Amino acid sequence: MATVSLKDLTKRYPGSDLLAVDAVNLDVDHGEFMVLLGPSGCGKSTTLRMVAGLESISAGSLSIDGKRVNEVPAKDRDIAMVFQSYALYPHMSVLDNLAFGLRRRGVSTSEIDKRVRAVAETLGLAELLKRKPHALSGGQRQRVALGRAIVRDPKVFLFDEPLSNLDAALRVGMRGELIKLHHRLGATMIYVTHDQVEAMTMGDRICIMNGGKVVQLGSPLDVYREPADMFVASFLGSPPTNLLPGRFNGTHLVVGQAHLPVPRNANAEQVIFGIRPEDIRIDGTAPHTYGEVLAVEPLGAETIVRFRLPEIPHDVLVRGPRSVAAKVGDRAPITFDMTSAHLFDPITTQRIA
Ligand SMILES: Nc1ncnc2c1ncn2[C@@H]1O[C@H](COP(=O)(O)OP(=O)(O)OP(=O)(O)O)[C@@H](O)[C@H]1O
Ligand SMILES: [Mg+2]
Repeated sequence: MATVSLKDLTKRYPGSDLLAVDAVNLDVDHGEFMVLLGPSGCGKSTTLRMVAGLESISAGSLSIDGKRVNEVPAKDRDIAMVFQSYALYPHMSVLDNLAFGLRRRGVSTSEIDKRVRAVAETLGLAELLKRKPHALSGGQRQRVALGRAIVRDPKVFLFDEPLSNLDAALRVGMRGELIKLHHRLGATMIYVTHDQVEAMTMGDRICIMNGGKVVQLGSPLDVYREPADMFVASFLGSPPTNLLPGRFNGTHLVVGQAHLPVPRNANAEQVIFGIRPEDIRIDGTAPHTYGEVLAVEPLGAETIVRFRLPEIPHDVLVRGPRSVAAKVGDRAPITFDMTSAHLFDPITTQRIA
């Protein structure tokens, strides 16, 4: 276990005038599972590679267990990294792939044998030790890559989208395996993904990045319920938060034809009204407005209903129960759960307290 601390960590790639990582501050606790989440190109891999020592640091500092390691080479940081591409040695057997790092570190043969067998047992690789990577399925390769990190018993595990090459079912399975593994090892882990479901289900905390910067840091439910800005509100959740234009009129917030009892705060006249699909009811209780049903999408456990609301420029999505009576073309009542709604500043995109 270890703590990892990033202070104003910054990366500018040579020849580029953009900052790939822009003054990132993040403290990862002993044994914490920290997820870096954000869209493609936001700087997740670059951040992780600086922590691993695979990429030089342009500015700021990186500490492990309170000790600055900016200049410490990768091999001396006691960190193991698992990549999306797995990066297995193609000419080596599974056994040799697992043992390679330990051999290079001069660990005794008997100790290597013990550790490799234990990890192979845990990950269900015991029958595959003689195979070469080309003769393994994607999921098996992924487990070898994971095993190679575990046998080293590092202070910190880094994962860069390790599940994204797997099919959906395998991904859900491996997600569960990784959560169990984290509980068993109690190791500090930093996990990069652009998949918000992975982030929500795996992370003790999620660090949401955009454009090289940290936008929000918090527990999964905190960032889901209290998004710092419109980016987070629309990035987390599927379908995402509905973001509807609104304006204050006396004591009410007018959203389309709905007049909502919202106390006017600050100087904002124009705001964005944010409401999650599960916080809109269509059962007819005290409706705020009416909408036309554009589509009904049954997902088995729930139904997504797509609405057009008068004077609202884009569709509004509602998460309904497994069966809903609404049909395409119906005019249906819309009730917003006002305790779960948020207001955002349309200029700064920040949430208004
Ligand atoms: N070796 C490099 N040289 C120059 N620019 C780079 C290099 N690697 C990455 N970048 C740029 O730095 C920015 C951050 O890239 P990074 O790979 O960290 O993003 P990411 O969040 O991991 O994205 P993805 O989800 O697509 O993997 C991007 O604009 C990218 O084009
Ligand atoms: Mg990446």
